[in-house]
Amino acid sequence: MSGFIAYLEQHPNLFVALGGLAAILGAGVGCVIQYFAMRGQRDKLEVDLAECKKREGALEEKARTLEAQLSQFGEEKVRNISTIENMQIDHQTKVTQLNEEIERFQGEVETRDRAITRQKNLVNKMMQIEGQLWEKKALSGPPKFWPLQDRGMPIISVLNLKGGVGKTTVTAHLAAAFSAKGYRVLAIDLDLQGSLSGMFISASLIKQKYDDKQLLQHFLNSCTHKRKVNLLDYVHQPIFEGQQSGLVATSDKLAYAEMNLTMSWLLRIAKKDTRFLLRRALHQKRIARQYDIVLLDCPPLINTCCVNALAASDYVLVPTMPSKKSSERVPYLLEAIRRFHVHVNPHLQVAGILLNRTLRAQLTAPESTIWEQVLAQAKDRMGAPVYGFHTKIRQNPEVRQLESESTFLEPGTELFNTFRKLSEELEERMPRECRRLANSPY
Ligand SMILES: Nc1ncnc2c1ncn2[C@@H]1O[C@H](COP(=O)(O)OP(=O)(O)O)[C@@H](O)[C@H]1O
Ligand SMILES: [Mg+2]
Repeated sequence: MSGFIAYLEQHPNLFVALGGLAAILGAGVGCVIQYFAMRGQRDKLEVDLAECKKREGALEEKARTLEAQLSQFGEEKVRNISTIENMQIDHQTKVTQLNEEIERFQGEVETRDRAITRQKNLVNKMMQIEGQLWEKKALSGPPKFWPLQDRGMPIISVLNLKGGVGKTTVTAHLAAAFSAKGYRVLAIDLDLQGSLSGMFISASLIKQKYDDKQLLQHFLNSCTHKRKVNLLDYVHQPIFEGQQSGLVATSDKLAYAEMNLTMSWLLRIAKKDTRFLLRRALHQKRIARQYDIVLLDCPPLINTCCVNALAASDYVLVPTMPSKKSSERVPYLLEAIRRFHVHVNPHLQVAGILLNRTLRAQLTAPESTIWEQVLAQAKDRMGAPVYGFHTKIRQNPEVRQLESESTFLEPGTELFNTFRKLSEELEERMPRECRRLANSPY
């Protein structure tokens, strides 16, 4: 080594060169170290960069998701806004509709108030005219009255404004007498008490007919609801064995139908004038084809059923008794009939007044006096003589007995002959074309 140093001392340039070389080597080593250090740094940066790129990708993904969500929210917002707007429009429409309905209801309430006031006034007016209530002009055109001459089937109301004078008895036994002569009789029970029905039909059968809706009240109710009602559907037949006579029966529940019809008439509810239901039903070919005579057993007062009978009838037969009280009611009835001629039935005639429950076949002196008074008063009220039947019906316990047994007169008995005579006298009062050839063996 000392030799080398000595050599260097001799060659200073070499020394410098070696120094330079050493410096270069040192610098080179430094550079290499720095190079590796920088490569390490670069690798780290590349890893960092890759990480960053990964994060960037994730962030971009997130940004896209957020954007998608945002646009979804936007759409939803638009949708919600339009829904709210639609709801507002709906609400507005409903408010308008409700307001219109309120206005309409107010209008209806006013119309109803006016109708109620009108009906109150009507009822008041009707109350003031009392008994003349039923004689008012028909609401709309009444059904056509088929003239008796063409119809050939007389319709007779048996009526007196007094109860217990024999209306039902006369109707039932006349029906029997006409049937025995070969007439096909249609009897109709128009009295709430249903006494005529009770003479032909048992209470249990009436109850069954009530359940089957086969009674007069059901016919009347149907008339007000339905357009076409056939009275024949309500006829119970036969009422006399081997004969073609029938009965439209009734029960005490007729009172309700009667009340309904009266209210409809008073308040003008029904479209049809409820006074003409029976005329509409009876003045039909199918009835005239099936029956030869119709007998209507009326109640002892003018109510809907009674007016229906009078509006449909050709004749009124007025039974009365030889007592002051019974005969007093006859002029009232005749006066009512005269008034009914104006708007209800101009064709209605009084067939005659019939004396029932006399003491003997020949009238006693007091009975004659009452009879003459009745006929005189009748003439006075009608402005023309009223027929008094020559046939008189005696007070006879057989009548009540037959009634309680629901049987009819035996041919050959005095009472049977009386009613046969009465039927003949009644026939005389009717046009010739209405009379049937008697085919009775009696
Ligand atoms: N000629 C008579 N003889 C005996 N009783 C009679 C006679 N006519 C009717 N009666 C009886 O008088 C009562 C009333 O008769 P009814 O025909 O029901 O009268 P109206 O139908 O007018 O109310 C009945 O019990 C009946 O039996
Ligand atoms: Mg009666």
